[in-house]
Amino acid sequence: MNKKVKEAVETIKKRVKPDAKIGIILGSGLGSLIEEFNDPVHVPFREIPHFPISSVAGHKGEAVVGSLAGVSLLAYSGRVHYYEGYTMQEVVFPIKVMAGLGIETLIITNAAGAVNEAFSPGNIIAINDHISLMGDNPLRGTADFVDMTEAYSRDLRSLAHEVAAAEGIKLQEGVYLVLNGPSYETPAEIRLAKNLGADMVGMSTIPETIMANSLGIKVMGLSMITNMAAGITGEPLTHEEVIETSKKGAEAFKALVRGIVQRLG
Ligand code: HPA
Repeated sequence: MNKKVKEAVETIKKRVKPDAKIGIILGSGLGSLIEEFNDPVHVPFREIPHFPISSVAGHKGEAVVGSLAGVSLLAYSGRVHYYEGYTMQEVVFPIKVMAGLGIETLIITNAAGAVNEAFSPGNIIAINDHISLMGDNPLRGTADFVDMTEAYSRDLRSLAHEVAAAEGIKLQEGVYLVLNGPSYETPAEIRLAKNLGADMVGMSTIPETIMANSLGIKVMGLSMITNMAAGITGEPLTHEEVIETSKKGAEAFKALVRGIVQRLG
């Protein structure tokens, strides 16, 4: 563990003794899951040394240790993005801290635009693969040739489908494509994404997923569809709409996550 990661890990351990094996990153508008935690201990990111802090509306910026459905969890409410100007190393620092705290399974969530026209705003999609057009990689500078054949665990996806069926939640699967942002895509870029085999687009998640795989953490990726991608309906895209739609879909999303966590515990 490098020195900075160690200092961050020690700081969190001083505040709470995390016995959690499951970590969760709550994306835009999905932070309200924290309100359902039992015995939550909140550690603001600004109190954790070296931790990157987001300036984006809709991202709270705290680590919370607590339990959900009787299972210990470590949640990050908010994340930083590459488009904020952070380096890849800064973007994945929180994942290294999770690994340092003993997290073995990561549930990573985001808001995404639908490229696949069978998807609608409010749908929840289990990410089954990804395409990065970021032009950078958090493992750059190392010779870590990590296998990405099953970057999003097949077992975790099966479990998510079981929970979705039991709870009556519609859960689909798709390929997530990332561009750097912060501008939304052009209609031409969305046609490109579609031709490349993408089902949804976003600006996050992939760096963290690569780092988690490198550190041996199993990943479950969940996208909340907040809008049809640019050019599909012809409507302009706004960050406010993304946050609002994400919040509206949050109840089903929370029930799904609760069920997954319960079964993993
Ligand atoms: N594009 C990129 N990122 C997004 C979108 C989108 O349409 N919706 C939510 N995050």
